[in-house]
Amino acid sequence: MSSIDSSRTFRLADRPVQRLGYGAMQLAGPGVFGPPKDEAEALAVLREAAANGVNHLDTSDYYGPHITNQLIRKALHPYGEDLVIVTKIGARRGTDGSWLPASSPEELAQAVYDNLRNLGLETLEVVNFRSMGRAHGPAEGSIEAPLGAVAELQRKGLVRHIGLSNVTRAQIEEGRRICEIVCVQNHYNLAHRVDDVLIDELARDGTAYVPFFPLGGFTPLQSSILSEVAQGLGATPMQVALAWLLRRSPNILLIPGTSSRAHLRENLAAAELDLPPDALAALDGIKMDSRSP
Ligand SMILES: NC(=O)c1ccc[n+]([C@@H]2O[C@H](COP(=O)([O-])OP(=O)(O)OC[C@H]3O[C@@H](n4cnc5c(N)ncnc54)[C@H](OP(=O)(O)O)[C@@H]3O)[C@@H](O)[C@H]2O)c1
Repeated sequence: MSSIDSSRTFRLADRPVQRLGYGAMQLAGPGVFGPPKDEAEALAVLREAAANGVNHLDTSDYYGPHITNQLIRKALHPYGEDLVIVTKIGARRGTDGSWLPASSPEELAQAVYDNLRNLGLETLEVVNFRSMGRAHGPAEGSIEAPLGAVAELQRKGLVRHIGLSNVTRAQIEEGRRICEIVCVQNHYNLAHRVDDVLIDELARDGTAYVPFFPLGGFTPLQSSILSEVAQGLGATPMQVALAWLLRRSPNILLIPGTSSRAHLRENLAAAELDLPPDALAALDGIKMDSRSP
């Protein structure tokens, strides 16, 4: 486990961002499909995040689809100069809400244009190529063809920086031979630490690691140790889970997702939470699922 780091910011590409950001996936309707139940609350969540200094927003045009980006535009456009919106491409939604690969050059270009239109931007700051691999885990295999197509969109000036999502270390190495990779977004949290070695490697060369499902995603984190530590600190389990990630490595940028302002406030307050050594040791010892899913 790497040392405690109290820094509030980390460089994402060439921009310093708050390490506690926001993931917008929860703003769409159930199953990340269709409109939100409460649009006013969704817009309020986005505005409150920005008002509280969140300047790293994670999204995709396939959330909704289109709807999450349209909400971001409605809530926050024109965007503050320090806001970094990171989107991802490589998938599309079936009419039944299914998640399908979409990584041909034509589909990737279409996804970039969809993001530009729905976010109201002329250039996308960071685009993650999301390899479909398995559902929430990567599968080995070359990403040269789709990443080459994304790099071509970068050369056209539509994309400023490129990251990778749901990838293996070999795929990151392959990706770096094609273009600069500014961040990696994979499944990681207190109970799922497959990427432990990778995180430390990326930290050494200054690349941001952005865990998706930091709170467990569709299966919220549950652990008696986590609950006990939280109770002892007068915090909630989700706050402790986020505070643990902030201390796990300085290159970790958090994008917890929520559709409620109450949870947003709770999550942002995790930046203030101090984890004493005994709490950290207990959390480090939580039985993990270290297998690839
Ligand atoms: N690259 C990828 O393949 C990929 C995959 C998944 C997600 N992502 C990105 O990662 C972001 C984070 O992942 P995620 O949103 O799926 O999962 P998450 O952040 O691990 O968890 C979100 C879930 O936790 C709940 N929650 C949030 N704060 C809470 C709190 N303080 N107390 C109790 N429950 C709380 C949310 O419900 P409420 O709405 O009720 O708060 C929601 O059900 C997404 O928003 C998305 O931007 C990327």
